Amino acid sequence: MQLFEITGGNRLRGTVPISGAKNAALPIMAAAMMVEGETVLRNVPDLVDVRQMQELLAALGVRCERDSEGTMRLRVEDEHNTHAEYKLVSKMRASVCVMGPLLAKRRRAQVSMPGGCAIGDRPIDMHINGLRALGADYELVGGDVLLRAKGLKGAEVFLGGPFGSSVTATANVLMAAVLAEGRTLIECAACEPEIVDLADFLNACGARIKGQGTPQLTIEGVKSLEGTEHRVIPDRIEAGTFMMAAAITNGDLELEGARLDHMRAVVDRLRSVGVIVEQAEKGAAVSSSRRLEPVQITTQPYPGYPTDLQAQSMALLSLADGNSIITEKIFPDRFLHVAELNRMGARLHKQGPTVIVEGVKRFVGADVMASDLRASAALVLAGLIAKGTTRVHRVYHIDRGYEHIESKLTAVGAKIRRLAE
Ligand code: EPU
Repeated sequence: MQLFEITGGNRLRGTVPISGAKNAALPIMAAAMMVEGETVLRNVPDLVDVRQMQELLAALGVRCERDSEGTMRLRVEDEHNTHAEYKLVSKMRASVCVMGPLLAKRRRAQVSMPGGCAIGDRPIDMHINGLRALGADYELVGGDVLLRAKGLKGAEVFLGGPFGSSVTATANVLMAAVLAEGRTLIECAACEPEIVDLADFLNACGARIKGQGTPQLTIEGVKSLEGTEHRVIPDRIEAGTFMMAAAITNGDLELEGARLDHMRAVVDRLRSVGVIVEQAEKGAAVSSSRRLEPVQITTQPYPGYPTDLQAQSMALLSLADGNSIITEKIFPDRFLHVAELNRMGARLHKQGPTVIVEGVKRFVGADVMASDLRASAALVLAGLIAKGTTRVHRVYHIDRGYEHIESKLTAVGAKIRRLAE
């Protein structure tokens, strides 16, 4: 296992290239399973989760190679296997994105039930109900979801759940509907930019999807999809994390490729606390030169404030001049970072899905444990400005979703080293 050793206190200055979005790349890779001929994806990040998806697709008969420039070529070679097994699915929840494509193209999807994870229990009932609405038969077999259909038929599908829509359920139903017979209407669809990117990719392959980016998607089924070339959108969560790195260190960063039009809620909150965020020629410019104001943040489905930046925001607001309130409305148990940040001197008071963030003057370096991807990023942010040395253990979590984070941080002045435990 590996850890990050961070010596805090350096202002970050310079340019950070923003990578392709993990949560766009993963479902698009799965969608390539439905395509005849070759799919070429550009701007695919070099991440553990991307490699896990490659491994899963390989097991499902898809040749899938990524070069060092981030171009990935995918081609279906064998459509025999329809079983995404536990040993692969359990490593990464996004594996569930193969369910819609398998069912639509191969008429059968057996996918191990992913189970809960460090951010809470994460059911997949909306995925299953949506696919059943398109005509699939469902059974639970030895911990696997088994869906079968002789032929899917367009239908009206409602995808609202207790916490709003579901991103990957929308992806699954959308992908299946593309090859279903007739028209599908998805109501309460996720509006995330990653869903828009998936729909844009599918349309470029010949699908007929309208309404992406709104809660109502209409899909006219087509018989087949043809290979295409597609560039994955930039990662708004990585960009948001680096915005906070600039803010927390009173630094000045240009985020090459970042798209502020995907990040309006984040930009709004950062500006409210006193961070300067501007459109720059090649992306976004973010700087801060004073103590931040406290603020209220409530996570919501897009275009609301992303849950994937909740932990990082908590690190940032810990150093504000007053008390902030953060409420988590997507994953009410996504708070494992609270205790770790408190070990570094934060004063966080959790009450149900809300945390009162009492502003403190500084973080103090400590040994802390990464529990999930975004929580790890929060600990790195705190370490960047902490007094003394911070060691963030179990950094494999961060490698799942941040491409070469330590080299990007080092290039703009951070003192961070990757070490063996
Ligand atoms: N939900 C249900 N039933 C379902 C599906 C979801 O009740 O069948 C609930 C969830 O428990 C949660 C809410 O609906 O309370 C929203 O979850 P969603 O399904 O949208 O999450 P997801 O699709 O599993 C994606 C991202 C997550 C991100 C969430 C929310 C991918 C691969 N993952 O997950 O990303 O937090 O949307 O925006 O796109 C990450 O990158 O660190 C990450 C966890």
